[in-house]
Amino acid sequence: MSATHVVVLAAGKGTRMKSRLPKVLHQAAGLPLIEYVLRNADSLAPASIVVIVGHGAEEVERTVLARPGLSFARQEPQLGTGHALLQAESALRGRSGTVVLLSGDVPLLRAETLRRLIEHHTARGAAATVVTAVMDDPTGYGRIVREGGGIAAIVEHRDASSDQRAIKEINSGIYAFDLAPLFDALREIGSSNAQGEYYLPDLVRIYRSRGLVVETMVLDDPVEISGVNSRKELADVAATLRQAKNEALMASGVTLVDPASAFIGPDVTVGADTIIHPGVHLEGRTEIGENVVIHSGVRIVDSRIESGAVINNFCVITESRVGAGARIGPFAHIRPASDIGPEAHVGNFVELKKTSLGRGSKANHLAYLGDATIGEKVNVGAGTITCNYDGVAKHPTIIEDGAFIGSDSQLVAPVRIGRGAYVAAGSTITEDVPPESLAIARGKQVNKPGWVARKKQKA
Ligand code: UD1
Ligand code: CA
Repeated sequence: MSATHVVVLAAGKGTRMKSRLPKVLHQAAGLPLIEYVLRNADSLAPASIVVIVGHGAEEVERTVLARPGLSFARQEPQLGTGHALLQAESALRGRSGTVVLLSGDVPLLRAETLRRLIEHHTARGAAATVVTAVMDDPTGYGRIVREGGGIAAIVEHRDASSDQRAIKEINSGIYAFDLAPLFDALREIGSSNAQGEYYLPDLVRIYRSRGLVVETMVLDDPVEISGVNSRKELADVAATLRQAKNEALMASGVTLVDPASAFIGPDVTVGADTIIHPGVHLEGRTEIGENVVIHSGVRIVDSRIESGAVINNFCVITESRVGAGARIGPFAHIRPASDIGPEAHVGNFVELKKTSLGRGSKANHLAYLGDATIGEKVNVGAGTITCNYDGVAKHPTIIEDGAFIGSDSQLVAPVRIGRGAYVAAGSTITEDVPPESLAIARGKQVNKPGWVARKKQKA
């Protein structure tokens, strides 16, 4: 089999988005549009991937740079899709085989469709194969003009006559090309059209006049090739991606109480028998175990929630781990690099940052625990605060196993509370507390019997 190369067009401004962000970097269901396209490209294990960048080039390059085997070609200025593909010429010089052309703004395409495209293209010995679909509302797309069954030309919506606008078969903007005649023919494309641009679809006419074989592959499902050109289309595509993810999760044994309000990113995994209530957002590389319950209004980003944990309403959890059987919230804020041990409890209005809480430990009410290492079976009383910041640097607090921190205590870091020690309520602890001892650091109470009566007498 001959080599496959992929070119992704991603240089356009996306004028209709009305945005300063390049169109292909807009996110749908938690990933930038171009990420979906590149994952698709990867599925072909191509010999090379060239991304054509222009508008917002640095930003686009920075976003996708981490991928192996990717190169960029700059298109400056952006004179249309034909001109864009021409910029891949030097990257592909000396290569042969098939070029699959993808649009950075068409994220729903399935890997299976791309495999079929290459098969179809190769089997027919075509110089070009255009992926098409029949749409109820073809407005805005290029129309496929056929003669005697075969494709004769593609006419852009803006250049189409009213007869041509009635055609419902449209150009997806996805193609396979034989590399050999491609770049010579691209140079023949002119720009006398409604937009004054070099239109890639004009290649069809040029190939036909040269006697080269142009094929089409008609898709059954036009949704796959939906392009994103406006915020409305971005929302539509996001809804489709989200629905597909939700259906896959339900099929694997996850309960979504209200799928319409479950926002679960494409890379999130959820174990069987987990129940997700309405209005939950699971983002990034989040992993949820089995038998977890996540109540309404929770947002979890890049975190791992282990089996049997319960996340009560309105918690935000970021870049952290919650151990098996732990209970969080309601209204808890778990900030990055926190690690909550199995069976631990974090209650309402508790904030953790870079803090580990050992197995079975509890911080049930109103606390700030930052840069703290807390052992097992520790009880952190209501209103406890680790004073971890002195205005210049952050300092650690260590609370050893079995310690008891009385309510409304401040632990001024760096400080260590020894194993099994008690801190009396209302203490401000500035020195280490030895194991098994009691620390009291508060003003001594003075009672003045009869004081009220004396005050009244004076008055
Ligand atoms: C294009 C096709 C149209 C097809 C539709 C499918 C052309 C002229 N028209 O129209 O037939 O029905 O896609 O979605 O090709 N781009 C560049 N450089 C440029 C211009 C565009 O890289 O100079 C990139 C864009 O970033 C985008 C892609 O090419 O990723 C398509 O461009 P866009 O302007 O969205 O084309 P459409 O009007 O949608
Ligand atoms: Ca488009």
